[in-house]
Amino acid sequence: MIKRFLSTLLLSIAASGTAMAAGYAPTENSQVNLRDQASLQRGAALFMNYCAGCHSLKFQRYQRMAEDIGLSEEQVMEHLNFTDRAFGETMVATMDPGDGEAWFGQAPPDLSLVARSKSAGPDWTFTFLKSFYVDEDRPMGWNNTLLENASMPNVLWELQGIQAPVYGEDGGIERFELVQAGSMSPAEFDQAVRDISAFLAYVGEPAALKRQAMGVWVVLFLAFFTFIAWLLKKEYWRDVH
Ligand code: HEC
Repeated sequence: MIKRFLSTLLLSIAASGTAMAAGYAPTENSQVNLRDQASLQRGAALFMNYCAGCHSLKFQRYQRMAEDIGLSEEQVMEHLNFTDRAFGETMVATMDPGDGEAWFGQAPPDLSLVARSKSAGPDWTFTFLKSFYVDEDRPMGWNNTLLENASMPNVLWELQGIQAPVYGEDGGIERFELVQAGSMSPAEFDQAVRDISAFLAYVGEPAALKRQAMGVWVVLFLAFFTFIAWLLKKEYWRDVH
């Protein structure tokens, strides 16, 4: 009975795994490292320069971000906040959502939780930002393999360069070809996109930074406690022998 129950359980877990895998386009491993503070800082700077005009982070305050990723109030207010919002306020986009809808056919969504809303997390953001290609049939001239017919243009094209699709035998896009180089090499661009993805993963769960730091102490404590328990056991058994 128990055996049957267990095998049914295992089968259904395996089935849900394949169903999930089939429903999503493959994503690349972003190798995001939330403990790399320099990466988070670069990601914040890139986000404020290239994304914050359209996308807000309405659950995140400038002040909290500064404290979490090791920036000063001056650094944030002089170099990263291009709005008239105060240090203690949340990050709202400079663009009016109504204008966004009129310009792009869809208002740019708030990105506070985007890294958490996708099952692939930061890998999704990373792959998305690398998957823009030229497509003359689209109103903005750009399309994206991960988010088909996305209404977002490739805002990083000056850094990345311009990618054109190379079609495989089945008519699907097989890979991309760089038809115009950007100001960054492909490796540098990967790092820039990794930094943005790390920053958005942090924004999605600001407490994760502290939790990871605390986790180390919990593990050390458990190891220490195991050692004490072992000493105690030795002590007791000495009397028994
Ligand atoms: C010119 C305005 C604009 C800029 C700048 C912009 N985006 Fe977008 N973005 C959009 C629009 C519009 C959409 C909605 C696309 C759709 O669903 O078709 C979008 C969608 C997205 C999505 C998908 C959200 C989801 O839940 O599906 C992500 C992730 C994203 N943008 C990240 C970024 C990042 C990171 C940057 C900066 C590098 C950026 N965007 C810059 C307009 C913009």
